[in-house]
Amino acid sequence: MPLTMNPKARLTLIGAGPGDPELITLKGIKALELADVILYDALISTELLKYAPKAKQIYVGKRKGFHRYSQDEINEMIVDQAITNGHVVRLKGGDPFVFGRGSEEIDYVENYGIPSTIIPGISSSIAVPSSIGIPLTKRGVSESFWVITGCTSNRQLSKDVELAAQSSATIVILMGMGKLAQITEIFQKLNRGNTPAAVIQNGTLENEKSGVGTINDMLQIVKLKKLSSPAIIIIGEVVKNNKKVNHLYEKLELHLAS
Ligand SMILES: C[S@@+](CC[C@H](N)C(=O)[O-])C[C@H]1O[C@@H](n2cnc3c(N)ncnc32)[C@H](O)[C@@H]1O
Repeated sequence: MPLTMNPKARLTLIGAGPGDPELITLKGIKALELADVILYDALISTELLKYAPKAKQIYVGKRKGFHRYSQDEINEMIVDQAITNGHVVRLKGGDPFVFGRGSEEIDYVENYGIPSTIIPGISSSIAVPSSIGIPLTKRGVSESFWVITGCTSNRQLSKDVELAAQSSATIVILMGMGKLAQITEIFQKLNRGNTPAAVIQNGTLENEKSGVGTINDMLQIVKLKKLSSPAIIIIGEVVKNNKKVNHLYEKLELHLAS
């Protein structure tokens, strides 16, 4: 018999969406209302916590580049809280299974016989480009897209960036700001320096900032506009020729000319 003796012990993993608190699902809100404990991550809008006023709320996100809790500690905390208090909600940014370590948490608690449920969220990889008017696929322009991490677990640039750069697909890179110079270099080596690109920081939030241009001028734009993490990099022809994005290009020309 697994060691949990609390019949209420369970885990619900909720994807909170890309940032704007209204972009969580209705199912996510309903599950929040039933939480006894919430463990929430850094990219979560704290406005969402008001849907669980009686729940114990524990912040387990990253702070200034270091982990407040390691993943192992978070896994243990979920089990302890479920056994002690009952229904634990893990509130994670975007979708819990897109670079979210959600499956590790599920595997860990299931080993203790604690049942778990997953409520998907809208991933920033899709929602952030969409929210500013960049379609990831577009008839006659792009048939598919890759979603890649810029930085692997051992802090290296993912080899998939180079593979993706050889395809005609739209490329969406998460956690890539620290590797932007290497990323642009890969495209330049493949003679793709003129490929349109965009960087969007804090997408769907009030403090959203973005820059559009080409691979060749991306580093300059990021510096000029002081763009940093959390941000998404989008590379591909879909970035250009969209009515909602064109004005960003016009602003850029003014900036670069001045
Ligand atoms: C650990 S990953 C988690 C991704 C999340 N599970 C998802 O589906 O969106 C964190 C990265 O997602 C991207 N990201 C998340 N929210 C974002 C936002 N609102 N604006 C821009 N990028 C965002 C950034 O690249 C950030 O470094």
